[in-house]
Amino acid sequence: MKQIRIDKRIYVKESVEFVRIEKWLLDVGDVLSCDIYCDIDPEETKELFLPREHPVDPQIKMRIDETEYLYILQEDLSTYYHFVDTIIQAVARDEHIAITKKAAVIYRQASEILDEMFDNPEALENVPKSKKVVNKFVDTIFSDSHAIESLIKITAYDYYTHTHSINVCVYALSLGTYLKLSTGALEELGMSALLHDLGKSKVNTAITNKNGSLTHDEFEQMKQHPVYGYQIALKIGISDTRILDGIRHHHEKLDGSGYPDAISGKKITLFARIIGVCDVFDALSTKRSYKDRLKSYDSLKLMKETMAEHLDITIVDAFIRMQRHDQLL
Ligand SMILES: [Fe+2]
Repeated sequence: MKQIRIDKRIYVKESVEFVRIEKWLLDVGDVLSCDIYCDIDPEETKELFLPREHPVDPQIKMRIDETEYLYILQEDLSTYYHFVDTIIQAVARDEHIAITKKAAVIYRQASEILDEMFDNPEALENVPKSKKVVNKFVDTIFSDSHAIESLIKITAYDYYTHTHSINVCVYALSLGTYLKLSTGALEELGMSALLHDLGKSKVNTAITNKNGSLTHDEFEQMKQHPVYGYQIALKIGISDTRILDGIRHHHEKLDGSGYPDAISGKKITLFARIIGVCDVFDALSTKRSYKDRLKSYDSLKLMKETMAEHLDITIVDAFIRMQRHDQLL
């Protein structure tokens, strides 16, 4: 099984290497043949959380949900991948499997695809691949009333460009469903959200991965990514203007102070406004090496109080209502 970026994060403590795992794949009754560790302090010292061969019981499941990150030893990675394979097969076989687990598998599969897309952004197969991801999310959302809640819970806590794209896609689809968009519109919105930052693959990684604020010149280069994304989308055969506008205009602001085209108000399409709101929300509520993450409630409060000139507040309000409805706030 391919090692995806979400679990490439390796922590070395006293020369022991730990790899983060996807905790949402663990459910009551699961047994892992390797030890699981958690953090015990802000310095990320690890301690044993669940010994190997110990089944997950309801109490442990509750502790898993409450714990931010779980890890295994690097040397146990193949054992972990074997477990993930078993779960993926079980989800494919059994329609009645827990929605959290199903959502975690779909998120993992989307991560694999996004990894490949960012490595090779201009590949023509990126269109069918991203359609597959979006359709999977849409089908899951329509098949289970708790799917949105589960998908939002498993959105990654740390900011990586490719998981950010999946998170924004999940938020946009959830919001689109709440706003009662048609299935066709949802699929287009999902595509636009999933591909919105693909243009970052054309910006120097020293800039996209920089820990801290960008210099004027670096920011000028970064500001080109919506145009690059738009050009890549055209090149791989996307012709739908709603999808293209969502990619090109997700950093435009209502007062005209955004980029790349400095358009304002209603000229910013609905898709671009939805993606813009979801983009800011994910940037605030995920952690980077230079900043902690805000809780969902605090992110939305900050957006409402300080970004009324930039974001469509009716969409922010709908996002708040949706998260309240799904008991996520
Ligand atoms: Fe962006």
